[in-house]
Amino acid sequence: MGSNTTFLLALPNRTALKGGVLDPTANKRKEEGGWPQNMKKLSEINTGFIGTGAMGSALIKAASKATDKIFITSRTKENRARVAKELGVTEAEDNISLTKLSDIVFLVVKPAQLDAVLHEIKPHCDGKILVSAAAGIKLSSIRAAIGGAKPAALIRVMPNIAASAGESMTALAVEKPASETEKTTIEEAAELVRKLLISGGLVERVDENLMDCVTAISGSGPAYAFIFIEALADAAVSLGMPRRAAYKFAAQTLKGASTLVLESGRHPAELKDAVCSPAGTSIEAVCALEAGAFRSTIIEAARNAARKSRSLAAGPAAAVPH
Ligand SMILES: NC(=O)c1ccc[n+]([C@@H]2O[C@H](COP(=O)([O-])OP(=O)(O)OC[C@H]3O[C@@H](n4cnc5c(N)ncnc54)[C@H](OP(=O)(O)O)[C@@H]3O)[C@@H](O)[C@H]2O)c1
Repeated sequence: MGSNTTFLLALPNRTALKGGVLDPTANKRKEEGGWPQNMKKLSEINTGFIGTGAMGSALIKAASKATDKIFITSRTKENRARVAKELGVTEAEDNISLTKLSDIVFLVVKPAQLDAVLHEIKPHCDGKILVSAAAGIKLSSIRAAIGGAKPAALIRVMPNIAASAGESMTALAVEKPASETEKTTIEEAAELVRKLLISGGLVERVDENLMDCVTAISGSGPAYAFIFIEALADAAVSLGMPRRAAYKFAAQTLKGASTLVLESGRHPAELKDAVCSPAGTSIEAVCALEAGAFRSTIIEAARNAARKSRSLAAGPAAAVPH
């Protein structure tokens, strides 16, 4: 649950709920100008998620460990109702009521869908922290898309699907502040977002110009790892292991290797050498991987993903399906 840290952001108070769905009249106090001007605890802040798909629901699951004030919308009522029930969060009536109610609004729609969502919510963005998870879409494009709206901060995150298992590698990038005051607000906002996502795994600040790289490595990376696990398990099955055991052996092997790299601080090549005894079994497999251009295939795969991410950078309006 939320920390006791306080924040210097002008954020709205909790809004009343009606039967688990947002009461559209609940923002009356805010519209009457009754916002507290400082100091809110994370536990008092409302967090909204627009988008409850593969990534949205993984982030919602992670954030729900930090706060119980989570509101969600999606395009279809069925999807949002299913996710709300599964994760114990509250459905909002629509994107506008969610934005009005929330202090932090996560945008977890496809890059090509972002423009329409921003257009819809921009009249209600003032003072909010907007957090986009969309691949390729730059903060400058989001700022352009919201026109004259004055959010407290715009933030980009690039999580991955393992957030639902508490093992994401998430990158977080912020806009360059124009003043010391703005810097303080942005830092406070980034810290709030980090606290919300930390239950989903590691969260690391990066410069925005690394976001295409991050998208290709850790954002899309689980897909490459799943293929590797599947292939290793297929090999196990071909060698006589039952399928269920094969996935367990393959997945735990990758998990163990990852943990060793992260915890030992040793170079992956040194660890690989430790597995490959002279004239042993492992080096025979490594020779086959090299013959099959395993490394260069992975490098080229990730470079393709980064190229695709860069191609989305023209902005929400120019984004193509992802
Ligand atoms: N998938 C990943 O592993 C991953 C990793 C890192 C980053 N991302 C980023 O996360 C974003 C979402 O990806 P995804 O894989 O989760 O996509 P997805 O499964 O297709 O989910 C998209 C979600 O957006 C909702 N949506 C679309 N238009 C909307 C609108 N106008 N108002 C409200 N909700 C709307 C959809 O609603 P319905 O469910 O009702 O259709 C759906 O819940 C993308 O920008 C992607 O770049 C994804």
